[in-house]
Amino acid sequence: MTPEMLDLARRNAAEAGVDNVVFLQGYLEEIPLPAASVDVVISNCVINLAADKRVVLREAARVLRPGGRFAVSDVLADPDMDPAVRADLDQWTGCVAGALTRGDFERALTEAGLTEVDVIESHRVHEHAASAVIRARKPEATEDAHG
Ligand SMILES: C[S@@+](CC[C@H](N)C(=O)[O-])C[C@H]1O[C@@H](n2cnc3c(N)ncnc32)[C@H](O)[C@@H]1O
Repeated sequence: MTPEMLDLARRNAAEAGVDNVVFLQGYLEEIPLPAASVDVVISNCVINLAADKRVVLREAARVLRPGGRFAVSDVLADPDMDPAVRADLDQWTGCVAGALTRGDFERALTEAGLTEVDVIESHRVHEHAASAVIRARKPEATEDAHG
């Protein structure tokens, strides 16, 4: 995002009279929030643009509080996506080339420590890709042996 986009968001919030929202500038790979501080992580069509989705999903898991939810919309590549499409920069900026497959996304969420992974394809966005709603949850904290 750019500073201009943040300014616009802040202006829109002010015009709408919304005063319970704070906009922070940061990167998916380094969210400017402490660990376990967030109830829900949402996003629409952003994760597919990150170079390393695994870093992004680990970061989402870090900021979620125990029991917190991950619920995003993103593009998923078909397992048989043509290598030419994967290498096409226009397709990357169109959110298609960089997309994970459903299996890769599920694995990356699980590796990040999230559970209850649920992926629902909503509609096709390309011959080799679909939009999907992807949900998961950070496990509740378990009491330790002394707790
Ligand atoms: C396709 S737009 C989606 C924007 C918005 N979520 C929407 O639905 O209209 C992707 C956005 O992700 C931002 N973006 C891409 N990579 C990012 C990253 N690594 N960290 C933070 N934002 C990123 C871009 O600047 C852009 O604003």
